[in-house]
Amino acid sequence: MKWNKRSLLSIEELSGEEINYILQTAYSFKEISLRPVKKVPALRGKTIVNLFFEPSTRTKTSFELAAKRLSADVLNFEVTTSSISKGETIVDTVKNIEAMKVDCFIVRHKISGAAEIISKETQSAVINAGDGCHEHPTQALLDLFTLKEYFGELKGLKVAIIGDIFHSRVARSNIWGLIKLGANVKLCAPATFIPMEIEKTGVSIFYKIEQAIKNVDVVYLLRIQKERQEENFFPSWKEYASLYEFNISRFNSIHSKFVLMHPGPMNRGIEIKSDVVEKGNSLILKQVTNGIAVRMAVLYLTVGQVNN
Ligand code: CP
Repeated sequence: MKWNKRSLLSIEELSGEEINYILQTAYSFKEISLRPVKKVPALRGKTIVNLFFEPSTRTKTSFELAAKRLSADVLNFEVTTSSISKGETIVDTVKNIEAMKVDCFIVRHKISGAAEIISKETQSAVINAGDGCHEHPTQALLDLFTLKEYFGELKGLKVAIIGDIFHSRVARSNIWGLIKLGANVKLCAPATFIPMEIEKTGVSIFYKIEQAIKNVDVVYLLRIQKERQEENFFPSWKEYASLYEFNISRFNSIHSKFVLMHPGPMNRGIEIKSDVVEKGNSLILKQVTNGIAVRMAVLYLTVGQVNN
């Protein structure tokens, strides 16, 4: 297929064929990070702006490394010391930076739809690096890549996603991606953490972790997002941990071939017990490693459409 999208805003907007095309492109980029000189000239002369309005370790670092490995220049825009603190709007900020001839904005923002708003106001590529509770498309792509690398095929794979699904942009992107590629998705959480009508996407819902993890191939744990709990979704984190924390007895109740995933950052002692983080077939750090190749592919495909 021929890629023609200038921006990546969601997994919902992609077809299964487009997702697979990104994953194939990422596969060809993975080997670059294993070379002594981890650099190719694919985006030489291009300028990529990291525009992060929320904290990030993995996504921001990973996009910066991916861009540099493609020989692009990277600007890490400092939101807190910018004129946004004097009242300048995000759109004016983006238009002013674009006037300096940049090619791509990577946007993380607490408001759902922020990346889409920016994409309508710029000729540059825009990549959604996480918008509120909406989507985190490159996280899902790196998760799909990691699963495909491990299992070879996603069709029929049984995946249990457990945790704060309601506030999770990672869950929403992964649900779209997994369903489009033919996986069976189970969601498990207290009722207050299950979004209304989510079963219309084709997932099944569980309230008891013991039932959700029975015979699964993948346990995908989500972070409890304390910063987004504007109401009491659950009586206490201690109670949450006793009912849903992935601990050694829950680990041992599954067959030995299942894999464990988490997008990070982890709340050890709430959704995951420390002693299982790297136990068995944990893919948690492989997800982080694969983030570079996947983000190289996304940058290569989208920035390649820009003629600023
Ligand atoms: N997975 C993820 O988005 O992590 P960061 O918040 O550290 O970028």
